Amino acid sequence: MARFGMVLAVALCLTISVIPDTTTAQLKTDFYKSSCPNVERTVRTVVQQKVKQTFVTIPATLRLFFHDCFVNGCDASVLIQSTPDNKAEKDHPDNVSLAGDGFDVVIKAKKALDAIPSCRNKVSCADILALATRDVVVAAGGKSYPVELGRRDGLVSTAASVHGNLPGPNDNVDKLNKLFAKNKLTQEDMVALSAAHTVGFAHCSKVFNRIYNFNRTHSVDPTLNKAYAKDLQAACPKNVDPRIAINIDPVSPRKFDNIYFKNLQNGKGLFTSDQVLYTDRRSRPTVDAWAKNSAAFDAAFGRAMTKLGRVGVKTGRNGNIRRDCGAFN
Ligand SMILES: *[C@@H]1O[C@H](CO)[C@@H](O)[C@H](O)[C@H]1NC(C)=O
Ligand SMILES: *[C@@H]1O[C@H](CO)[C@@H](O)[C@H](O)[C@H]1NC(C)=O
Repeated sequence: MARFGMVLAVALCLTISVIPDTTTAQLKTDFYKSSCPNVERTVRTVVQQKVKQTFVTIPATLRLFFHDCFVNGCDASVLIQSTPDNKAEKDHPDNVSLAGDGFDVVIKAKKALDAIPSCRNKVSCADILALATRDVVVAAGGKSYPVELGRRDGLVSTAASVHGNLPGPNDNVDKLNKLFAKNKLTQEDMVALSAAHTVGFAHCSKVFNRIYNFNRTHSVDPTLNKAYAKDLQAACPKNVDPRIAINIDPVSPRKFDNIYFKNLQNGKGLFTSDQVLYTDRRSRPTVDAWAKNSAAFDAAFGRAMTKLGRVGVKTGRNGNIRRDCGAFN
């Protein structure tokens, strides 16, 4: 697994933030119908090519979108590169190494769009990221869902805005619910979006505590399946390079599916923040329902992604269309 060195770590660290509550202008799925009718097909083609080259594109893009939306709204602020004068969002120490493949797919899609005269500088980087995220879900075998469009790109990106807004691997349901509620997402949305871990990777450093020194009486977290705990200890020996990457879904790591929920039922949630969805009585019924019924999960995931995609969006005269997704105009 070491080859996934670049990988994004950890939880799809979603973030929250102070989002001005003025999001009334509506997004719509056919926003580019006249200005750039090929937008969906163009982005999809780029995503499919990129996924063929690097599987990591899938979890990386998902993570990037979550991070973008939870910090300052879905406005591509996470794509901005730091400059000598500004330490950008992506370089906050909690960034949990947003993998380069997520950035790369957006840059490539933007380039492909800009090569179409009618689309040139018409499509926001925030919308490209939203479309690419749906497309990586589909590329991993997940169900498609309509993507609302019309976001404009943000004019601010600061590392300082990240602090405290990304859920961590050790969060419990209360903490997760609170972070999601700030973004108008329900517990059900939270459980659905957590399932993006069905294709994620994590670094060993994030699980050491659960498999070696959980607490004074238990070296291994007793909510972990015993055989799975042994597998994890084998994959992440003490003193191993903490950046070694492991799959978050040990059963079907390359498929976007509801096995994630079955894993939780079996004590195979990699992070505490995964396993608590099952151990907590409030969210367990949702885990059980979606473990049994993948169509219900697919529908809930699509709904949750649509709501996530509305968080803190800038529309109308707010924001702009960035010429370079990594830099302000
Ligand atoms: C945050 O991102 C920077 C570069 O983008 C990377 O060097 C650093 O390791 C990341 N931090 C974490 C905690 O992953
Ligand atoms: C360690 O964790 C287990 C399981 O959560 C708990 O039952 C036990 O009381 C904990 N021990 C200490 C010393 O906190």
